[in-house]
Amino acid sequence: MQKTNNNNLTWFDSLISRKDRERLHGHQGAVFWFTGLSSSGKSTIAHLVERELHKMGCSTYVFDGDNVRHGLCSDLSFSPAARRENIRRIGEMVKLFVDAGIIVLTAFISPYRSDRDSVRSLFADGEFFEIYVECPAEVCEGRDQKGVYKRARAGEIKNFTGISAPYEAPENPELIIRSNELSVEEAVACAMQLVRENNIIVTS
Ligand code: ADX
Repeated sequence: MQKTNNNNLTWFDSLISRKDRERLHGHQGAVFWFTGLSSSGKSTIAHLVERELHKMGCSTYVFDGDNVRHGLCSDLSFSPAARRENIRRIGEMVKLFVDAGIIVLTAFISPYRSDRDSVRSLFADGEFFEIYVECPAEVCEGRDQKGVYKRARAGEIKNFTGISAPYEAPENPELIIRSNELSVEEAVACAMQLVRENNIIVTS
């Protein structure tokens, strides 16, 4: 059926279905959305999970906050409205990747619950998994892998999440990883268990 919107744009249905692509990949398209403070461990865990999945023959991609803000979202600041737009664009992009049958892992602070819920609403049940990488703010600040907390404390970075801007923790995530209580290996194992439990990968 043709779908035309009020800008006179008509959706063109692919000749290859999502199911066809998923059959080729040997797994479903899905997104594992890591959220948490800067230096909580989102990127580290997401990239290691990607490596595990890649070893298993899965088609994967990691979208990472700092990387996406170098290109697609390089025009956006860290105001609440700009963060909303950052997450909206990423959500739409991830939706296309999931339609392509890819297992997507994302690592964005994504501090606002409503923005994360908007992304969730783009997906069907069993496609979107929110993973809260929980770590006390003082531990993240102590790690300060990129030196950004120091700069925020010095007043060089405004609206810094955890210092001068809020972080709204997920109320009902599919998984919580307490990164200050687990080793990196244990954290990766927890995320891999979530993937396995949800039958994303066809094993027969
Ligand atoms: S989000 O809030 O819009 O989801 P995103 O994950 O894309 O953030 O980017 C976060 C990264 O940007 C941080 O890890 C940090 O390196 C950098 N950064 C620069 N300014 C800020 C800021 N004001 N608040 C948080 N992170 C910032």
